[in-house]
Amino acid sequence: MTVTEMPVTDRRLLVTGGAGFIGANFVRYWRGARPDDTVVVLDALTYAGNRANLDGLEDSQCRFVHGDINNTELVEHLLRDEALNTIVHFAAESHVDRSIEGPDVFVEANVLGTLSLLKAARKVWQLEPASTGQTAIAHRFHHVSTDEVFGSLTHEDPAFTESTAYAPNSPYSASKAASDHLVRAWHHTYGLQVTTSNCSNNYGPFHFPEKLVPLMILNVLHGRDLPIYGDGMNVRDWLFVEDHARGIERVLESGELGETYNIGGCNEWTNIDIVREVCRSVDERMAARPELVERFPHTPAAVGEPSETLIQFVTDRAGHDFRYAIDASKIETELGFQPATDFETGIKKTIDWYLDNEAWWQAVFDGSYRKAA
Ligand code: NAD
Ligand code: DAU
Repeated sequence: MTVTEMPVTDRRLLVTGGAGFIGANFVRYWRGARPDDTVVVLDALTYAGNRANLDGLEDSQCRFVHGDINNTELVEHLLRDEALNTIVHFAAESHVDRSIEGPDVFVEANVLGTLSLLKAARKVWQLEPASTGQTAIAHRFHHVSTDEVFGSLTHEDPAFTESTAYAPNSPYSASKAASDHLVRAWHHTYGLQVTTSNCSNNYGPFHFPEKLVPLMILNVLHGRDLPIYGDGMNVRDWLFVEDHARGIERVLESGELGETYNIGGCNEWTNIDIVREVCRSVDERMAARPELVERFPHTPAAVGEPSETLIQFVTDRAGHDFRYAIDASKIETELGFQPATDFETGIKKTIDWYLDNEAWWQAVFDGSYRKAA
């Protein structure tokens, strides 16, 4: 189907999954950059969703709705009643280890949830057959996806481009790949005005402490083991989360409809090196700020030991992808996007955020963050 572009001028956003790690960072970024835009966050508050991630943001222009993207009627109401014209779709089950333990919920949230949103968007934005005589409403559906859909690289392979064949290896990445295909099909078949971004590993504030970086930071502070899967030589490409938000903004502003854009950090690390870097960085802070040693008496620095002594090699993840790497030349040359935060700065900001926001992670550990759910 030929799609006539209908540019959205006055952005009114539905941000799905906006109480999760990247969604909340995106909303924070967007509220700062474009305070006049309307933002409605729709989030089911699963274990990964946390209302506190949006603290200080909610006002007449930014509201939170507790609900499931699989509730198509609710999505239709929100789009219609709030005259929303842009969906930025983050909502998903996102943790690979959980997908290995229990894949069903990944299909429900990531595949069926995306289908539900696409159906609601098509209906409310009036992409009905021409015979109905309806004119479509200007809109954009931006789908947030992952580099994991491209599978696993060896050391020698070139980085993933937008035309790398899909080869998902985990239940998580298979469900994300399926959702990418649905989004593509709604563009080609119904003319839905879509863009998709496939991003590498994010790190930064509000990252749920089951993922590598926050888990390692908090385990070091508590003197707990640092579990490294396999030999620690798997490679990931790390991007500071605010840069992911900026990349999505560039795609929303200037991305071509129906196109996909890779977003990455050009910042490959083996897992063992990144964990050593976290250890070194925390130890540096402990040395510079003695009050931290009083706050965290079980951290190795409290007894003059390096945090690296906590590293333990453990059983590998089943089907563990060896290496991800993003070739970000398309978004750089076509949309002029480059990450703004280098890794040294980003990891320092991240560690400082965890040191300064103990109440946030204590609430996650004791479960009280779930009281709003
Ligand atoms: P997250 O797990 O921290 O947050 C997911 C959010 O979605 C949570 O707030 C959760 O409550 C919500 N959610 C889940 N199922 C829902 C449903 N059915 N209805 C409504 N809300 C629901 O995930 P994240 O790390 O912030 O990832 C966000 C998106 O970015 C995901 O689509 C993920 O695939 C993608 N992504 C993540 C990374 C990464 O490094 N974390 C990298 C690339 C892409
Ligand atoms: O590449 C983008 C993806 O990055 C996103 O699509 C996913 O949503 C996000 O969770 C992330 O997936 P990973 O599996 O790469 O992230 P995770 O933090 O779980 O693991 C990073 C690497 O560290 C991976 O090689 C597994 C390893 N690891 C992880 C944990 C939690 C360990 O060695 N030990 C651990 O305890």
